[in-house]
Amino acid sequence: MNATRPCSVAEAVAALRRGEVIGLPTETVYGLAADAGNAAAVARVFALKQRPAGHPLIVHLGAPQQLDQWARSVPEAARVLAARYWPGPLTLVLPRAARVLDAVTGGQDTVALRMPAHPLARAVLDAFGGALAAPSANRFGRISPTRPEHVRAEFGDTVPCVLDGGPCAVGIESTILDLSGAAPRILRPGAITRAMLEATLGVAVAEHAAADSPRVSGSMAAHYAPHTPLRLLDREELLAQTQEPGALLLSHGFDVPPEAGLRLPANAAAYARALYAALRDLDARGARMLLVEQVPDAPEWAGVRDRLARAAAGAGAGSTT
Ligand code: TXA
Ligand code: MG
Repeated sequence: MNATRPCSVAEAVAALRRGEVIGLPTETVYGLAADAGNAAAVARVFALKQRPAGHPLIVHLGAPQQLDQWARSVPEAARVLAARYWPGPLTLVLPRAARVLDAVTGGQDTVALRMPAHPLARAVLDAFGGALAAPSANRFGRISPTRPEHVRAEFGDTVPCVLDGGPCAVGIESTILDLSGAAPRILRPGAITRAMLEATLGVAVAEHAAADSPRVSGSMAAHYAPHTPLRLLDREELLAQTQEPGALLLSHGFDVPPEAGLRLPANAAAYARALYAALRDLDARGARMLLVEQVPDAPEWAGVRDRLARAAAGAGAGSTT
């Protein structure tokens, strides 16, 4: 395997068994995957990402039946949600089983579990048999990858096995739901919305992480950030600034000439699918500033709004790369 040829499922599984780290497509974003039961392999993920220890990883499962191997207690709500949304973009935070490595959980008493839907992720998990600890395949604090070339651009030869699963169908990271407390609570919004979770569970789901919640690096303000400073503006404000020198625009409600920026779809799911590749594209053009049209304050846009707010908070913070 080398950087010019995508890795096969068999090569990926062999690499995982050797304790190596691979680039794994999921339906949300590409992950940097390692054997969740191998402490040295998990340590390699942290080193590659330059992720501080104490920021826990999501454990990816091949089947809902594995829940009982990785969580020491599985509430009925977790089984109901897994039956409804797995495989899919929903991560459940549950009390950890004894076998879960401290490096994976960041020393917390909980573990984040999800079963990805991408056919290549499922093929690797099926053939591997175990579980894979996999954060998004970007360096700490930067934009998540949604195409194999993003992973190769980020890690080059240090991650020789990157499976080519094409562009990710969802495009933003999974919804994270904490089921370890008294009531279900969303720690990170995503494609599985609060309304969907409430409809399935029949109980209220809290929206935001409280101060005492487990650490979620994706919930730190400065995250998912391009290098170019990024500002979020309402459409009217943005239209008033289209001639701003050195600025590139990211709209969804009006046309933008190619040299002035990009227009994304006005549909939340289609926008999410295209967002990270658009930010990478605009970031690479060397502009002084990215001006982004704010998206609607509507439930289906919650995941995108969250990522745009973090991108605005973290943009230009070169020290986090
Ligand atoms: O869609 C996704 O979830 C992607 C793909 C690759 O599966 N993965 C992903 O991983 O976004 P990462 O590491 O970039 O983000 C995982 C998030 C982090 O914010 C981390 O803090 C949180 O999950 N997390 C992991 N374990 C946790 C736990 N026990 N309690 C609370 N949050 C946890
Ligand atoms: Mg990430």
